[in-house]
Amino acid sequence: QTKRVTINAQHPETEWIKEAAQLIREGQLVALPTETVYGLGANAMDANACKEIFKVKGRPQDNPLIVHVSDLEMVKRLVEEWTPQAALCAEKFWPGPLTLVLEKTAFVPDVVSGGLGTVAIRMPKHPVALELIKEAGVPIAAPSANLSGKPSPTQGIHVWKDLKGKIPMILDGGTCSVGVESTVLDLTGEVPTILRPGGITKEELEEVLGEVVVDHPSPNQAPKAPGMKYRHYAPKGDLTLLIGERKNIIRKMSDEIRKGHSRLKKVGILCTLESAPDLHSQLPDLLFVLGSENAPEEVAGNLYEGLRLCDEQDMDIILAEGVSEKGLGFAIMNRLQKASGHRIVRV
Ligand code: TXA
Ligand code: MG
Repeated sequence: QTKRVTINAQHPETEWIKEAAQLIREGQLVALPTETVYGLGANAMDANACKEIFKVKGRPQDNPLIVHVSDLEMVKRLVEEWTPQAALCAEKFWPGPLTLVLEKTAFVPDVVSGGLGTVAIRMPKHPVALELIKEAGVPIAAPSANLSGKPSPTQGIHVWKDLKGKIPMILDGGTCSVGVESTVLDLTGEVPTILRPGGITKEELEEVLGEVVVDHPSPNQAPKAPGMKYRHYAPKGDLTLLIGERKNIIRKMSDEIRKGHSRLKKVGILCTLESAPDLHSQLPDLLFVLGSENAPEEVAGNLYEGLRLCDEQDMDIILAEGVSEKGLGFAIMNRLQKASGHRIVRV
């Protein structure tokens, strides 16, 4: 039995926060909204509770969890050293969609860190998440609240569809504002390294830290964020990412719609507002507008909903329009590349 309650995202009802915090302290799981995506939370200091997260999601054991805190006091027990760079990042970007990887203390259970010597920490900006952590009085370990391999949930209904019957409570705070996950930044090396692009851009980090690099593992090398090796965000249909000039993308997509239909396949389109009118007239089985090409925050906010709709409406073929990699576009393109299994066509 899963209890899904509607909670006020700006002013969370105390009643629900108390009930959820109680469950967390008892070692149970609660799904909660954050500003990026929904998280599947457990007491980060309780190894058994955290093990349950892996079971419920079907998550590989070697993929560590992000630990969410509500204040800097909580961080002290978790990390060996609160470095000057970490302090800078926290001052500038916390609460917010930035996760910091630092050397961990022995207080952090091995199951949380996936056996690594480091721990990933983030202070979320969402009032529900912050209130829940405060009320529980413990840091909350939380991966995205989807089944492994599905797009991250950006609405309470997504969590419900994935996890109903598997966890006691879902706090439904509506739609997440950012829509893609946090940026994971490794601060344990010489140069700060982005392990996963996300809600805080490389450009923003560079303003504060100076040089920042992106971890680009080669095919025979493991990525430093274990989760990045899995094909996350994979829709059931075959997704192709198209990159190039608008008129070429529209022509290619139109061809593919026609070809797909001649093979009796359902064809779904994920595109920008600007391309939508021309593609609409090609009669795809699903046309999902991600947002304006000039508003990457809009595209980020809609991306996972679009991917989920393609699944729900059984699209066999999915064609996604690429966007500029500037700013938040870098995280969007990272997710689309993964969803495509690197089936990328330049036109
Ligand atoms: O926005 C977010 O980050 C959301 C919300 C709920 O906070 N959480 C989220 O968690 O996306 P998850 O578990 O889906 O992704 C965590 C990523 C994975 O790629 C994981 O491998 C990486 O962070 N990670 C966690 N701990 C790490 C560590 N100690 N070193 C390197 N990578 C780590
Ligand atoms: Mg995830």
